[in-house]
Amino acid sequence: MNKLKEIKETLLMGPGPSCVPPQVYEAMATATIGHLDPAFIEIMDEIKSMLKQLFQSDYDLTIPISGTGSAGMETCFVNIVEPGDKVLVLINGVFGMRMQDVATRLGAEVDVIEASWGTAINPDAVKVKLSQKPYDMVAVVHAETSTGVCNPVDQIGALVNETQALYLVDTVTSLGGMPVKVNAWGIDVVYSGTQKCLSCPPGLAPVSFSPKAMEKLTNRKTKVPNWYLDLGMITNYWQGATRAYHHTAPINMLYGLYAALQCVLDEGMENVFARHQEAHQQLKTGLGDLGVDFLVEENDRLPMLNAVKIPEGVDEAAIRMNLLKNHRIEIGAGLGPLAGKIWRIGIMGHTARPDNVKRLLSVLGTQLSG
Ligand SMILES: Cc1ncc(COP(=O)(O)O)c(C=O)c1O
Repeated sequence: MNKLKEIKETLLMGPGPSCVPPQVYEAMATATIGHLDPAFIEIMDEIKSMLKQLFQSDYDLTIPISGTGSAGMETCFVNIVEPGDKVLVLINGVFGMRMQDVATRLGAEVDVIEASWGTAINPDAVKVKLSQKPYDMVAVVHAETSTGVCNPVDQIGALVNETQALYLVDTVTSLGGMPVKVNAWGIDVVYSGTQKCLSCPPGLAPVSFSPKAMEKLTNRKTKVPNWYLDLGMITNYWQGATRAYHHTAPINMLYGLYAALQCVLDEGMENVFARHQEAHQQLKTGLGDLGVDFLVEENDRLPMLNAVKIPEGVDEAAIRMNLLKNHRIEIGAGLGPLAGKIWRIGIMGHTARPDNVKRLLSVLGTQLSG
């Protein structure tokens, strides 16, 4: 019995993965070739160039790491952070907490600024903290997927850039759904993932490193404590006139990313961002009619991840299960302190379309009134 035959197409409106467009599935079914085949190296070079456009980064080291968004997070931390480094992590949800965990495991001296879940990090608090002590790195999540909050990474960047610290930003949920301006915002180290607004299945983590970050890497006193994610070695495969084997690249995943990036650039980045905003507005209006409120203040909301409060007396898990089992629509539950209190409705990448939002609103409307 082939279990794959039982898999039904699902409208993915949770915190990721998002719906995958046919161009990406077709690309992934392309014949597998060798990872050092010149034809494949041309594809790798185009992926790098398209990623630079999306990140709005002119950094040479802009590549996809083999692994999901968490591999991107690890890559950024293991390559840059050394034992005893002073790291400031800004936390207002699950993914900020993970960064604190990762940095602590590397022996960094970690300080945090915490904001309550559902509110944005206040740049004034960052300013005060930065005036108290010199940091080697400041890390923040742009789009906090656990709460639907957009952190002011541009304003925080301006403050960090006045100091010697490197600036690290998680753009797993934002990249491809809203502007990410690596150069303009003074970001030194950035990572993302493929399964959110890029609408490519999970499995790759684009990263981009500034020359200042590369200098820190080159001048490390200790070896990068992770063989697989050591950028010093990975770059021998991704850069230069001759390429050397490090690990076998996930060829067909990279075909998928190649097609996914082409989809975004062919549509035009501004048009893609506008499509996310429109879907968000449509959802907001529809949920308003159903009496469902947002968790986050309007100014701090993400377009692609909508955290909404469960109405009084509603069995949230039963509704989610019903949506999935009977309507093949997936929405996300709350995490940590927000478990049972919110739903997380994703309108990411290929999912961000009027028909999809309409379909969810219609089914949710019936469920809530029933
Ligand atoms: C903001 C953020 N960072 C990191 C991750 C980790 O990515 P992955 O689950 O692909 O490893 C996620 C996943 O949801 C995320 O939303």
